[in-house]
Amino acid sequence: MSVQEILSREQVEFFKEAGYLAIEALTTPEDVAFLREIYDRLFAERRGREEGNQFDLAGTDEEGTEAALPQILGPAQYAPEMNDSLLLKNCSRALSQIFGRPVEAQFGHAIFKPPRTGAATPWHQDAAYWDPGSMHTAISVWVPLQEATLENGCMHFVPGSHRRDVLPHRPINNDPRIHGLELEPDILEDATRGAVACPLPPGGATFHGGYTLHYAPANRSDIPRRALIMGASIGATPRERPVRFAWQESRRTAREERAAASGGEGRAERLV
Ligand code: NI
Repeated sequence: MSVQEILSREQVEFFKEAGYLAIEALTTPEDVAFLREIYDRLFAERRGREEGNQFDLAGTDEEGTEAALPQILGPAQYAPEMNDSLLLKNCSRALSQIFGRPVEAQFGHAIFKPPRTGAATPWHQDAAYWDPGSMHTAISVWVPLQEATLENGCMHFVPGSHRRDVLPHRPINNDPRIHGLELEPDILEDATRGAVACPLPPGGATFHGGYTLHYAPANRSDIPRRALIMGASIGATPRERPVRFAWQESRRTAREERAAASGGEGRAERLV
């Protein structure tokens, strides 16, 4: 394997077949420590809150309430030194291998699961958040900054689910004030049969496509579960027959109101 290659040929093939991949190390322990310090500072300072870039994925997110699943969109805009991390370089290399052409990965968001209180990230496909007018070719890379276990909320995937189109979703608990989406409960059991869990060491990574069904349980451990999500897209192809995602049209979140009030974007299209 050359210096530039992060993934073996078998790993690239596995991703294409299964729609997901887990690897033990995408970066070094030193780089994890560097990123973890930045990560904790950004959440402690509530960076991005006023512009709608820090918000609660799983609650109604009103001022004065404790966030169940706080997340920061585009964390590197508040800490540009993150873009110098080995993690981001290695992520770009790995994604370039999968896509078969050079791509630059970006930090998408940071999701924090507080100890013992964090909500689950329910089963969903990332494309359910995106423009329904196109089919998207995008991959997300999820990296824990401590061990990720069954107890603290490691990623789960449904192998082969990337071959499906977007399935019916709704806002979590069917509450239009909540930003996060979940698969419709009546299709959940069938759609998630055969799911696999991917525990990881710190600095390991999972990769998944925009249509791959995935989920992370609540954090039932005594320590925070920190995860950084990076990704890259090589574009979108307009659908021949446009579809509508009803769950996007009914959404009315406090985050969108804050973003609109500060002149920012009303939607977080690249969310996962
Ligand atoms: Ni996601």
